[in-house]
Amino acid sequence: MPGETKIRYAGAVYGYEEINAIIDSALNGWFGLGNYAREFEKGLAHFIGCKETILANSGSSASLLAITSLTSWQLVDRLKPNDEVITPACTFPTMFNPIIQNNLKPVVLDIIPETYNIDAENLSEAITNKTRLIVLPHTLGNPNDMDTVMKIAKEHEIWVIEDNSKIIKSFRDWGRACYCESTEKNPFGACGMRFNWKLEGKGNLTYDHKYMYNHIGYNLKPTEIQVAMGVHQLKRLPDFIKIRKRNFKILFEELSILDKYFIFPESHKKADPSWFAFPLTIRDVKKMDRRELCLFLEAQNIETRYIFSGNILRHPAYKNIKTKIIGNLKNSDRVLMNSFFVGIYPGNSEEQTKFNSGSLHLKDIQMSV
Ligand SMILES: Cc1ncc(COP(=O)(O)O)c(C=O)c1O
Repeated sequence: MPGETKIRYAGAVYGYEEINAIIDSALNGWFGLGNYAREFEKGLAHFIGCKETILANSGSSASLLAITSLTSWQLVDRLKPNDEVITPACTFPTMFNPIIQNNLKPVVLDIIPETYNIDAENLSEAITNKTRLIVLPHTLGNPNDMDTVMKIAKEHEIWVIEDNSKIIKSFRDWGRACYCESTEKNPFGACGMRFNWKLEGKGNLTYDHKYMYNHIGYNLKPTEIQVAMGVHQLKRLPDFIKIRKRNFKILFEELSILDKYFIFPESHKKADPSWFAFPLTIRDVKKMDRRELCLFLEAQNIETRYIFSGNILRHPAYKNIKTKIIGNLKNSDRVLMNSFFVGIYPGNSEEQTKFNSGSLHLKDIQMSV
């Protein structure tokens, strides 16, 4: 019902398959990671086209693990306190926080208004002999210019967050040393060393490898119930991507005439993003007020959100952190003040997406009267 049914910015789309899998995993009597986890990790690796994936209980936990793993004493080239990490000011907080939580120093860059990502061509300006890592969110699912980023990173021998699996599992699972699985065939782990671990200088003391701690870790594992759902969500992924792209295209085409008010989203020429949402940035605040516009859309039952943090350094949590700012952050400030998004998630039908765009046109008509 136009104006009555809520058009959400995001949500879960699932069917009886997910519900059956959740019940099945609950009946298995083991909520720790198991068969569903193995199937999901394999399926996701296949979908992405990489060697291995490791489950975490959220995207935030995955970022924490990826960055923390690079501080492991097991790496020759590990990150040390005060090493510099290049990252955008307009980011997601939990992509930024692990830099501070690991006593590293954020070196903060501005973004391009249309892509909401850094200008990779400017990356070199931020590099010093203390730069060790580049942390890049692909804002709203819009990929960064990774060719340029990887070229610069290789030239300067700087880490870019990528799979680093041994160590990531240890930080995820309480810091324990054992990363190999115990199966029916190998009850003492694939290494066969489960109860035989000895450490230099500890005499005859043997450790249970599963409870020997290599890192100061966390518990950031999902449960099998979550993964059971994930296994079926993975099967829906190609359709989810298709619907997101369709909804994005509808909004892009139907709203293009409102170019006078808004900066429209753009992606890199080599990218084919499945956007998380449809972002807009108001060009001139004298012509259109973001708060008023979002209240208007919400009154039509269209959910809106501002774009995560905008310039993250303007939020209370970050007022005392030490950073280095490269150039100015005017576009990140602009996102903080003038940007918002509406939903394109697979739960939104074509009709609902057209209603979204119709409401933005309605605002235009109201303003011209
Ligand atoms: C770039 C980025 N990183 C991390 C997250 C957080 O993910 P989660 O809610 O699964 O912790 C989000 C959420 O939107 C995000 O956009």
